[in-house]
Amino acid sequence: MARIALASSASHVDDAELDLLRRAVQDLGHDAAVEVWDDDAVDWHDYALTVVRTTWDYTDRHDEFLAWTRRVPRLRNRSDVIAWNTHKTYLRDLARAGCPVIPTAWDVTDADVLATHADAWGVGVGAAEWVVKPAVSAGSRDTARWTDADDALSHSRDLVESGRTAMLQPYVASVDSDGETAVLFAGGEYSHAVVKGAMLTQGEGVRDDRDSRERITPTVATDAQIDVARRALRAAGDALGGGLDLLYARVDLVTSPEGTPQVIELELTEPSLFLPYVDGAAERFAAAITSTVNSLGRV
Ligand SMILES: Nc1ncnc2c1ncn2[C@@H]1O[C@H](COP(=O)(O)OP(=O)(O)O)[C@@H](O)[C@H]1O
Ligand SMILES: [Mg+2]
Repeated sequence: MARIALASSASHVDDAELDLLRRAVQDLGHDAAVEVWDDDAVDWHDYALTVVRTTWDYTDRHDEFLAWTRRVPRLRNRSDVIAWNTHKTYLRDLARAGCPVIPTAWDVTDADVLATHADAWGVGVGAAEWVVKPAVSAGSRDTARWTDADDALSHSRDLVESGRTAMLQPYVASVDSDGETAVLFAGGEYSHAVVKGAMLTQGEGVRDDRDSRERITPTVATDAQIDVARRALRAAGDALGGGLDLLYARVDLVTSPEGTPQVIELELTEPSLFLPYVDGAAERFAAAITSTVNSLGRV
């Protein structure tokens, strides 16, 4: 029996998926406890493994969170993976490695620059829809969909002026009809997939209360989706020097205007794993936890 910590933010210790995972780990004969990542009373050295789970308040405390990941021994995913993955500039590494990602422009504050990107993406400034979001975010926070390029530009400027990195993307229209597909891997093996409905509504602007909007349905990932998801994971390995030993990974994909899968997000930090939606998923992730513990050795 090993002691395993599942790290959460204080506000999410009662999360249903977290409890499902905790019980699945217990069922494999381990002692699994939910711990709050910024609780000073916790001695992380007591645990054979700490798994980053529902630490969703980190986006406003990024530096503090990264410092915590460096202090915790036997953390999964690893702190270098988390440092790389919590800033969406990792999408550039994926693109550089030839993995298809949604076209993205960074820190756009100038109308001419926006027009140049629109041209390069084959969308007209007047006709296209845009998404603007910060590079450090989760749960669609500070993210919005704009039909007017001036609104997109002004949102992007606001983010840059407040010292954040701003992302500008074309709105991928298929998200409205088909949603995005999350492809889940446990210990490097494909586990399951779900479809998540669109999160951004036209004309709504910036809102930070979209979490409750999630509509999830189980699906079967296509070969093309699994292939792109694996390419994203290989590109992550290349960017970080290999041997990532990922305990979990989630690759979120959309369908490009050409009908091919494109990465919207690679989640190696604190993703919902959508365990309640698919039979056997919690057991697969619990088994991946056990094999990670075995490979690390007991304390
Ligand atoms: N370029 C885009 N096209 C269509 N929808 C998008 C785009 N970017 C973001 N979205 C929508 O906004 C949501 C949040 O954006 P995402 O990039 O997944 O960041 P996070 O989940 O970290 O907040 C997505 O789930 C999707 O519904
Ligand atoms: Mg997302």
